[in-house]
Amino acid sequence: MITIIGAGKVGSSAALFMALEKLDDLMLVDVIDGVPQGQALDISHALSILGINVRIEGSTDFSAMKGSKLVVVTAGFPRKPGMTREELAAKNAGVIADIAEKIKKYAPDAIVMLTTNPLDAMAYLMHKRLGWDRSRVIGFSGVLDSGRLAYYASRKLDVSPSSIVPIVLGMHGQKMLPVPRLSTVGGAPLTNMLDGNSINGIVKETVDAGATITNLRGYSSNYGPGAGLAVMAESILKNQKRVFLASVYLDGEYGVKDVSAGVPVVLGSNGVEKIIELPLTDEEKKGFLESVEAIRANISQIPKEYLS
Ligand code: 2OP
Repeated sequence: MITIIGAGKVGSSAALFMALEKLDDLMLVDVIDGVPQGQALDISHALSILGINVRIEGSTDFSAMKGSKLVVVTAGFPRKPGMTREELAAKNAGVIADIAEKIKKYAPDAIVMLTTNPLDAMAYLMHKRLGWDRSRVIGFSGVLDSGRLAYYASRKLDVSPSSIVPIVLGMHGQKMLPVPRLSTVGGAPLTNMLDGNSINGIVKETVDAGATITNLRGYSSNYGPGAGLAVMAESILKNQKRVFLASVYLDGEYGVKDVSAGVPVVLGSNGVEKIIELPLTDEEKKGFLESVEAIRANISQIPKEYLS
């Protein structure tokens, strides 16, 4: 069973994508009575119409996650228009600390993925609160940011986004680091395929994408995160060992320690099975370190009681 904690727009979209992929039965947990049950019922009807035999249920009882192989945390306060992901740090720290206790109690063997913003700081907090091996705590963001980079690049290049291997490192936030030199199309770097102006435009669109959606429609993204969570879950549950960009606790990789940041990882049945270190130029390294500093600034917004 997969448990999704937080049955809002991201949680329910993730549940739908996972159900469409027939990954496993699903449990939606949320503190607002009626919401997880209602979402589960709506998705169950969709699955009935499509002839997909996946069970999905909703509950306000956290013990419903018992036996889960994978727990996906999408709970927390979302971004409102004009708000940065960073402003959410202090607010969401309490939510994550509380959920970590519930996961330790009811799903002590699970692999945990989370989407709660500010993502990297919340992934760090979850890692600290669980006290588990870092391979079992995975912050979701890089799949979304890199998927966006591929999308915007594909429109300039007139090539399918699925034929672009996009790289976005570091923070999920304004200081994320798209790396066009290592993002490739048929093996060719974007920097060889496009002029500087086009690249700058793509990078800006990628960094701003989350805010663009929020400003356009009044609430933040859900289909992108839902799809990304589903492909990562598939790689874990089917032991596919595919490479994704994800926020993991770093212990010397990329020259940094005691911080969670987005890097390429191999995901399999043990969670993060490998961290891939990319050969960065001095300028890219500098950008990565700046991105990590911005994550550390968010971590410093977490009330100390949660990190002791
Ligand atoms: C996004 O990038 C809100 O972080 C979310 O869409």
